[in-house]
Amino acid sequence: MEKKIDITICLGSSCFARGNNKNLEFVQEYLKENNLTDKVNFKGQLCSKLCNEGPVIIIDGQVYKEVNKVKLMEILNKTFNI
Ligand code: FES
Repeated sequence: MEKKIDITICLGSSCFARGNNKNLEFVQEYLKENNLTDKVNFKGQLCSKLCNEGPVIIIDGQVYKEVNKVKLMEILNKTFNI
């Protein structure tokens, strides 16, 4: 079985307010549109202690900081070779 990709989104109050509320929806839509839902473990976590550099998203251990929609799109496209 193929190994799933771990996507973790920081849902601490700082990251959430700074953009992860929108990023959360964006990732969900992206996974659905590209039929990737089964290939990913998508979960939220509490504050990642990087609030100053948030919003934070972690993909397979790689920490992405100051993630906005444009950056997120690029990161996801790169992750899934789309
Ligand atoms: S709220 Fe995300 S790093 Fe603190």
